[in-house]
Amino acid sequence: MKKFQVAIDGPAGAGKSTVARRLADKLGAVYVDTGAMYRAIAWRVLQDGIELMNEKKISSLAEALTITLDTDGVYVDGLKLTDEIRSNQVSLLASDIAKIAGVRKALVKKQQLISQSQAVVMDGRDIGTHVLPHADVKIFLTASIEARAQRRYQELRAKGESTQLEVIHKEIADRDENDRKRTFAPLRQAEDALFVETTSLTIEEVTEMIFQLCRNKL
Ligand code: C5P
Repeated sequence: MKKFQVAIDGPAGAGKSTVARRLADKLGAVYVDTGAMYRAIAWRVLQDGIELMNEKKISSLAEALTITLDTDGVYVDGLKLTDEIRSNQVSLLASDIAKIAGVRKALVKKQQLISQSQAVVMDGRDIGTHVLPHADVKIFLTASIEARAQRRYQELRAKGESTQLEVIHKEIADRDENDRKRTFAPLRQAEDALFVETTSLTIEEVTEMIFQLCRNKL
């Protein structure tokens, strides 16, 4: 199989992971959820009780941990993590540790390594700008904050979690601000990325649109 690269970036809750996973299936590529890698480090930081200020220790942890992405979850040194990395607490901490240059360096290296040997659809915040600057297709996926909060809210409710729309709205707004304003590899659209506004589109429509684009380009 040709080792093509599709990069999908955008703010929290824009539907990147659902679209990227479906697209990878349709294209016969591997889906790489880079957010899950930042979340996995955040989860370990909480487990080990490491202070956020201890950037050196967190960076060493990011370098040392073996992180494997699979269809059923993320494995950290062989331990499978699923729902535990999706809590509000882990989301916000992931966004905080994602500001640390050493953490980004370690994870970007792992992400680039994964894409060397296989065709990938990779989603995150800095894929088109930093991780895969020569990706064959680059997409910047976004939607209004109201739509993104509403989608995340429905998703959690469907899983049976009790949560409030306002809490989700604030968590997403805080993470967006963190991700856009950080010094290293902030969230921004790559110059050669296609901007896709999904507020009034369904997941199926977005996936199909990007799939057709990939078929023409790959
Ligand atoms: O994509 P997801 O919401 O799971 O990502 C969790 C957090 O990880 C984001 O809010 C962001 O701070 C960080 N992240 C990042 N760069 C990526 C992927 C995720 O900084 N490529």
